[in-house]
Amino acid sequence: CKCVVLVSGSGSNLQSLLDRYREGRLGAEVAAVVSNRPDAYALERAREAGVPARVVDHTGFPDRESFDIALREAVAEFRADVVVLAGFMRILTPEFLTPFSGRMINVHPSLLPAFRGLHTHRKALEAGCQVHGATVHLVTEDLDAGPIIAQGAVRIRGDDTPESLAQRVHTVEHRLLPQAVRWFAEGRLEVSGNRVQVRGHAD
Ligand code: GRF
Repeated sequence: CKCVVLVSGSGSNLQSLLDRYREGRLGAEVAAVVSNRPDAYALERAREAGVPARVVDHTGFPDRESFDIALREAVAEFRADVVVLAGFMRILTPEFLTPFSGRMINVHPSLLPAFRGLHTHRKALEAGCQVHGATVHLVTEDLDAGPIIAQGAVRIRGDDTPESLAQRVHTVEHRLLPQAVRWFAEGRLEVSGNRVQVRGHAD
């Protein structure tokens, strides 16, 4: 099973995938990393790991559709079985979503369906939540709303800031994302409607 990882930023989630891959515990090959930003530190991580890295700079395209077509071609070059969005900060259109439907995994820094979109840690603090966390889910056309594969929670502390909270949520993301990729690669995800069951996983 080949996975292509889409990134936009620091790539700490990419690193957790690369580390599991190196240890032979990902159950999939990280075939390539594609960034929409030429300055993403994630590209450096890919190079260090010896994984092919490509840039498809969204600023060079007139609209989302033409960017998505270029992105689709970059990903197709590596014959991806699964596409992992690891801190990829662009909204995708059907040009990209349709060909990879059912084979795209995203990591989101909240306990969905709470706090879709950006600034999730600040929103959780402002809402007075006592728990917060991360979600790994299949990508559909509805932003941050696809079938949930796995979630992990952290307790919010009285002195938390968005930054301190983000740090603990990141730790959860780094555990959940490789786990979900492995389940996908092993063909253990059973999707019915919006629900995902992991075969052979009793939680
Ligand atoms: C993560 O919190 C991810 O859930 C969100 O963006 C952040 C990316 O972090 N979508 P990194 O680039 O993996 O370090």
